[in-house]
Amino acid sequence: MSLPAFDESFVPTYTAPPNPSWKLGDAPGATAFSKQWLEAGEKAGYKVIDTSEVSPHELYALMISGIIPRPIGLVSSMSESGVENLAPFSFFNMLTPFPPTIMISLTNLPRVKDTARNLLATRQFTVNIVSEAWVENANVAALDLPEEGGEWALSGLTKAQSVMVRPPRVKESAFSMECETAHVPQLWKHIDISPPGFAQPANTLFLGTVKRIHVRQDILNERGVVDPRKLRPVARLGDVSYARLGEVFRLPRYLWEDQKEEVERFLGERKEGGDNEP
Ligand SMILES: Cc1cc2nc3c(=O)[nH]c(=O)nc-3n(C[C@H](O)[C@H](O)[C@H](O)COP(=O)(O)O)c2cc1C
Repeated sequence: MSLPAFDESFVPTYTAPPNPSWKLGDAPGATAFSKQWLEAGEKAGYKVIDTSEVSPHELYALMISGIIPRPIGLVSSMSESGVENLAPFSFFNMLTPFPPTIMISLTNLPRVKDTARNLLATRQFTVNIVSEAWVENANVAALDLPEEGGEWALSGLTKAQSVMVRPPRVKESAFSMECETAHVPQLWKHIDISPPGFAQPANTLFLGTVKRIHVRQDILNERGVVDPRKLRPVARLGDVSYARLGEVFRLPRYLWEDQKEEVERFLGERKEGGDNEP
């Protein structure tokens, strides 16, 4: 399939939210796009999938296509004997800010991945956020090499020494975290997740405590947080599709302190007039 070239000139911009005039309790569908999208859904109806009746492969394909976009963490780890490994993971996210905790979930089927073995053995790793500028380099690290190691060389990425952990971080990453598998009471280090009757763990969820964050100075904004337009993160979608940030919109948070009176008035009126159950 021939696709148009990647648009290098594209820069994400901030816009207003889709419906800036939305008010408490307003039903969706006030804008032309929203109305049309909802009407299409009404017309199409739903297919309900019983997860116990679908093959693992179909479940995988369906879930990774619907639970999107997912951030990609390029994980650098090391075996006990010092063999370095690099692999991307999109079942990855932030769990808690304090203590700073992230999660990565690894599928152990059909093979236990080197990353899982390394994390179980040495507990240390770095997670490097993947940016558009070097996504191909990160992608090749998913290769299931028969020999241990080699991903770093194939990726063309540069190792930068970590401060707290043995595995290096990726120098080209604008946001890297040095992690150790978390010491969470009751959840010590990792959690195996398997369907009933499985002798071996089908998946392993690793919780990592973030010890150090390396963030490129030029991607920080005046508030000291990351400007998404400069990080240019890549997100994983279904099959082999990926996404970049398009337009970024700002949607202020509702705060009880600020909106208390308006919310109470709205809910008071709603009680008198009935609710929006079908
Ligand atoms: C973008 C991307 C995201 C991925 N996410 C995951 C994931 O979340 N969990 C997983 O088990 N494998 C995931 N994979 C596959 C692993 O990267 C792949 O199995 C890799 O060979 C594992 O390397 P290792 O054996 O060196 O640890 C992903 C692959 C790509 C390209």
